[in-house]
Amino acid sequence: ATTLGAAAAQSGRYFGAAVAANRLSDSQYATILNREFNSVVAENEMKWDATEPQQGVFNFTNGDRIVNHASSRGMSVRGHALLWHAQQPGWAQNMSGSALRNAAINHVTRVASYYRGKIHSWDVVNEAFADGGSGGRRDSNLQRTGNDWIEAAFRAARAADPGAKLCYNDYNTDGINAKSTGIYNMVRDFKARGVPIDCVGFQSHLGTTLASDYQANLQRFADLGIDVQITELDVEQGGNQASIYERVTRACLAVTRCTGITVWGVRDSDSWRSDNPLLFDRSGNKKAAYNSVLNAL
Ligand code: XIL
Repeated sequence: ATTLGAAAAQSGRYFGAAVAANRLSDSQYATILNREFNSVVAENEMKWDATEPQQGVFNFTNGDRIVNHASSRGMSVRGHALLWHAQQPGWAQNMSGSALRNAAINHVTRVASYYRGKIHSWDVVNEAFADGGSGGRRDSNLQRTGNDWIEAAFRAARAADPGAKLCYNDYNTDGINAKSTGIYNMVRDFKARGVPIDCVGFQSHLGTTLASDYQANLQRFADLGIDVQITELDVEQGGNQASIYERVTRACLAVTRCTGITVWGVRDSDSWRSDNPLLFDRSGNKKAAYNSVLNAL
């Protein structure tokens, strides 16, 4: 195969990119996206602040632009993200208690219902665990509504779109560490109690090193009976970028239940990071990292 998407499809996987709706009119961007990728995720357009700017007033215009671009080209769509402590609309940031809980669950229901049947996997909850060694939850307005907010969100998402895979998504979970173990324990508990969860997303925003147990960590989650996905991959340029991309790709392919990889942008100039972490350079040329991924798929 000569493209990322076709190469990933050889093993039944997808290869996706985060897309910004306002870049779809850039012909170089669209050419690369349409040629190389068979999955997309909205970089910002499906977040709470974008989709419910005022309470109960929904705006799906830019999310729809991405979904329509994808579906007309046979690409699948990851949904990102129904609930998160960041990029909340101002009205939600100022809420607490049962009012916030109700608003949050209503948000999950309304957004997942609107996109019902169109989303391969939803990031139902994003980044709810704390950094550092506690292994516990991150403090946030959502967490302060009660520890059961995550399972309530997953149950609402399942009811709204029974066909979508429901994922928990986080970062700094690239090896077996306190944070990833906290998430592992939550997933194990959800499976034991019948809380609907189908997948865990590993963002994989990486620097110049990769945990030696990256694959083993994916595997222990898969062994809980869920899928795993690499959801926001980008790697600092300069320190073995190509080899880290290759190792991440090989790790996913070595785990039967690792179903796909998404990179967090197309060209380095499209990235949220300034350290040129993507597979295409600022002129749209394939980088060494691109070739290492293609060869590993
Ligand atoms: C980032 C986007 O790339 C930026 O454009 C935006 O300004 C901030 O959010 N983890 C996530 C993503 O789950 O939603 C974040 O995306 C990057 C970190």
